[in-house]
Amino acid sequence: MAKLTRPDLDSLPSYVPGRSPADLARELGISEAVKLASNEVPYGPLPGVLDAVAAAAAESHRYPDMGVLALREALSARYEVAMDRIVTGCGSVALLELLAKAATRPGDEIVYSWRSFEAYPIVAAGAGVRSVQVPNTPGHGHDLAAMAAAITDATRIVIVCNPNNPTGTSVRRAELTRFLDAVPDDVLVVLDEAYREFVTDAEVPDGLVEYADRPNVVVLRTMSKAWGLAGLRCGWLVAAPAVADAVRKVLTPFSTNMLAQAAAIAALRAEPEMRRRVDLIVADRETLVPRVRELVPGVPETQSNFYWLPIADPVGFGKACESRGVIVRPFPEGVRVTIGTPAENAAFLAAAEAALG
Ligand SMILES: Cc1ncc(COP(=O)(O)O)c(C=O)c1O
Repeated sequence: MAKLTRPDLDSLPSYVPGRSPADLARELGISEAVKLASNEVPYGPLPGVLDAVAAAAAESHRYPDMGVLALREALSARYEVAMDRIVTGCGSVALLELLAKAATRPGDEIVYSWRSFEAYPIVAAGAGVRSVQVPNTPGHGHDLAAMAAAITDATRIVIVCNPNNPTGTSVRRAELTRFLDAVPDDVLVVLDEAYREFVTDAEVPDGLVEYADRPNVVVLRTMSKAWGLAGLRCGWLVAAPAVADAVRKVLTPFSTNMLAQAAAIAALRAEPEMRRRVDLIVADRETLVPRVRELVPGVPETQSNFYWLPIADPVGFGKACESRGVIVRPFPEGVRVTIGTPAENAAFLAAAEAALG
């Protein structure tokens, strides 16, 4: 049969979503599995979100506001950035795709640390752009000096994932500032801050506050994690007005849907409750990670709502946890585990103890 799609996509690994409790129920007959595989917050939608979604749904025979005015106003007020610098999208991943579309041509390069967020190679390949993957440091973090050195005349975008998914590591202020100073003006630096709300280390800079005024910096944020809206798909970026305009030119019309817009506004109003939930997760993180380290040496410090297990047989460990009703996320180099409720975290510790014998 004639080849109807791009042959270069054949070898591209597909995005692997975290497995769901329904998968375990079907395959293993486990009815009450704990899902710690997708870095979601386990406490349900924030107060006000369900009512806002229901009210918006009553109008859902109409198209949503394509300018996303009310949500951009709310974000602008909350984060003190001008509205013309904010673009929303169907998840922050979609915004990264749009940035690649707006800033690159086939044959250009995108530089990022590896291992990092698994969507990056997919976004690059989709845009026909070469991925330049700079190996993580031995401590599983970004090697910013090597990333700066990897930039060539063909580089259009560099991504810094801070904190890094899946290893949880963070880059700190002095090294990030040095890096940004070294990147040429005509290269976009995307600061992917999907997990910013979980950061407690004052040395880990808030990209929006500290760097977003640089013309070549784009800050990506999501409503999927701390704000609890993963299922509704809403992310946003802050960029220089010209960059934001270029992204708006290539975006899929109406792709921030009506329910997502209403839910995101309601979630922002519930910020104190978001903070309370994030504080619970951070408090659990403080006690959990040292206990996990007793089982798996070398777990790096995490500033996110997950931690990284650098173990030898990630797939085997993942299967062993699943057989005990706990879903984690194996990668070739290790396993990522989301911090859930205290009961879920205890279930993981018990499963890990049993799995590691
Ligand atoms: C680093 C990073 N960026 C972006 C995203 C995607 O978020 P969204 O749900 O907004 O597309 C994720 C989700 O896992 C992530 O880990």
